[in-house]
Amino acid sequence: MTTKEKLYEGKAKIIYPTDDERVYLTYYKDSATAFNAQKKGTITDKGKVNCAIASALLTYLEKKGIPTHFIEKVSEREMLVKAVKIIPLEVVIRNIAAGSLCRETGLPEGQILPQPLVEFYLKDDALQDPLLTPDRLALLNIATNEQIKQLQTLAKTINQHLIEFFKSCQITLVDFKLEFGLDHQNNILLADEISPDTCRLWDTQEQDKEKRVMDKDRFRKDLGEVESAYQKVLTRVLNQIEKL
Ligand code: C5P
Repeated sequence: MTTKEKLYEGKAKIIYPTDDERVYLTYYKDSATAFNAQKKGTITDKGKVNCAIASALLTYLEKKGIPTHFIEKVSEREMLVKAVKIIPLEVVIRNIAAGSLCRETGLPEGQILPQPLVEFYLKDDALQDPLLTPDRLALLNIATNEQIKQLQTLAKTINQHLIEFFKSCQITLVDFKLEFGLDHQNNILLADEISPDTCRLWDTQEQDKEKRVMDKDRFRKDLGEVESAYQKVLTRVLNQIEKL
């Protein structure tokens, strides 16, 4: 399949159209950013690791009945996906308090939430991805009420599947971000990636607050051993996929 000029380049990936208008090729880069690109760096082989983790998790979710954009992994850093128009919302699901939830509400890190929290952020770098209230979400007209309800239901269902999957990898799913897109028939598909870049993942067997971190917080907080943490997640995910 031949690819054309890139369609979009994000912080961690490049999207190319292909000669089939219903298919895009996603290329995973090693570059890493945090705090809305104020902090920039490279995580060696992150592209390969995240491409492999995202491929495995999207395949797993698809088998559980979640409609995703994933078609197939075609190289170490590339996957073919269904062409979708991304809904400009970042859907964050939280099971345990961490990150901006703690910063903005004062909840202590590590507090288990009584029920998963689903939040919508506007996907807009220039505006620094603000958290939206339900009224602002309705005002912006980004999605219909029906679509918002669908996104909430999908997010909660995906969360349940991922909690269960990561638990079997001895990993606690603290929180994560999802993006969704619309295909040619206006169906909502889970898009983008699921990886240590987009999830907070804590090693279930590790009590130490720094050592347990297996995700991008190692890069954000300069905790070191970023590459090996990502690699560990990959190994555990692939081992578990083999057992299924
Ligand atoms: O920063 P915050 O605590 O709001 O992040 C919640 C979750 O969403 C984290 O797992 C983080 O990695 C993810 N996230 C993301 N991309 C963003 C913002 C948050 O993957 N732009």
